[in-house]
Amino acid sequence: MKAPRGTQDLLPGVTEKWQYVEEKLKDLSRRFHYQEIRTPIFEHTELFQRGVGDTTDIVQKEMYTFLDKGDRSITLRPEGTASVVRSFVEHKLFGAPNQPTKLFYIGPMFRYERPQQGRMRQFVQYGVEALGSADPAIDAEVISLAMSVYQTLGLRSLKLVINSLGDQESRASHRQALIDHFTPVKEELCGDCQNRLEHNPLRILDCKKDRDHPKMQDAPSILEYLNEDSAAYFEKVKAYLDEMGINYQVDPKLVRGLDYYNHTAFEIMSDADGFGAITTLSGGGRYNGLVQDLGGPETPGIGFALSIERLLMALEAENVSLPIDQQLDCYVVALGETANLKAAAITNDLRQAGIQVDKDYQGKKFKAQFKAADRLQAKFVIVLGDDELAHNQIAVKNMETGEQEAIAIDQLITHMQGIL
Ligand code: HAM
Repeated sequence: MKAPRGTQDLLPGVTEKWQYVEEKLKDLSRRFHYQEIRTPIFEHTELFQRGVGDTTDIVQKEMYTFLDKGDRSITLRPEGTASVVRSFVEHKLFGAPNQPTKLFYIGPMFRYERPQQGRMRQFVQYGVEALGSADPAIDAEVISLAMSVYQTLGLRSLKLVINSLGDQESRASHRQALIDHFTPVKEELCGDCQNRLEHNPLRILDCKKDRDHPKMQDAPSILEYLNEDSAAYFEKVKAYLDEMGINYQVDPKLVRGLDYYNHTAFEIMSDADGFGAITTLSGGGRYNGLVQDLGGPETPGIGFALSIERLLMALEAENVSLPIDQQLDCYVVALGETANLKAAAITNDLRQAGIQVDKDYQGKKFKAQFKAADRLQAKFVIVLGDDELAHNQIAVKNMETGEQEAIAIDQLITHMQGIL
């Protein structure tokens, strides 16, 4: 039996990298004052239909949807924003005294996509959502947090791309312009885009199949259709980014694959050689209508998400090695029957005292136990022999220097705590 296509097992040796990255992400979230939220891995299908949008690829083609035994349509979450907003509304977090509500999450997401490097069917997203502020400074904060993730981990080859999708009014006039632009060539577009032309023409700009169609090159740019408020908002976001020293490029073609966005949209790409075909590391944007769409009071929101899979790919592409400590504090080596009995108790006592310890469980000979300690990169080996035990003593060997000293058993824990 093999794991399903598009999923992976993370084995020891790799999980340490994940733990390291996850710790960094939690650390950074704390620094920016975002608190953790954990929502269910499955939700009612309707949440994503309404939240992510009926015309998106995610909802139309990529969801893991099934009927449960009670005949309810259930979907494994394809992303985190809709769930976080559902929870925000359900628990009336908008009523809490401290606003905006700043949340982060780390967890698996599921999309039925064609797997390739950097594109999985189960992947882990870290994301943040700030709900309750329409201050362009928080757009800049979220973008800064996203950039900081990569920078703190040591990545250098990054490209930040931003755009504004404007408010409803701006989008409506842009939408009409897109319809006027593409209708004369409708028959030349792919089946999906013919549909999009009717239901969501903005999506055409994101189409992989029609990317090279001549009409794509001079398609109306959203930036020309921003009304005064939307244009002013975008200018402020850029001013904050400038002031914070965050470099960006404006790309009027950046539309994002989810329907809830308006105003600020952004993506971070890797510029590193050898990163592979998919270069987007993370994406996000503002979604001012979503809370209302999901039954809450009018509340602006902005957030972003990245996958840890692509983050680790970027680290590899840039040859960044994570400072992961693979060493073991102590390995207990025992020789003789009494010593073996005592070794189990000493191992246990040391662990209770907070020290990381392991011992042999394979009935290995004395020499082989030392070899095991070596392989596990133990800093110290504690040697128990029946003879020493008769004098209530054990030997502690420093594996780096080779020095060995005899310690009274009842002094062992204090001694180890001292030298570790
Ligand atoms: P998204 O652009 O669909 O946005 O996904 C965000 C990130 O998740 C991508 O940039 C990529 O790193 C990762 N990702 C997406 N699909 C896959 C996949 N199949 N395999 C590996 N990684 C993947 C969202 O999901 C929005 N909820 C982001 C957001 C939060 N917007 C506002 N708040």
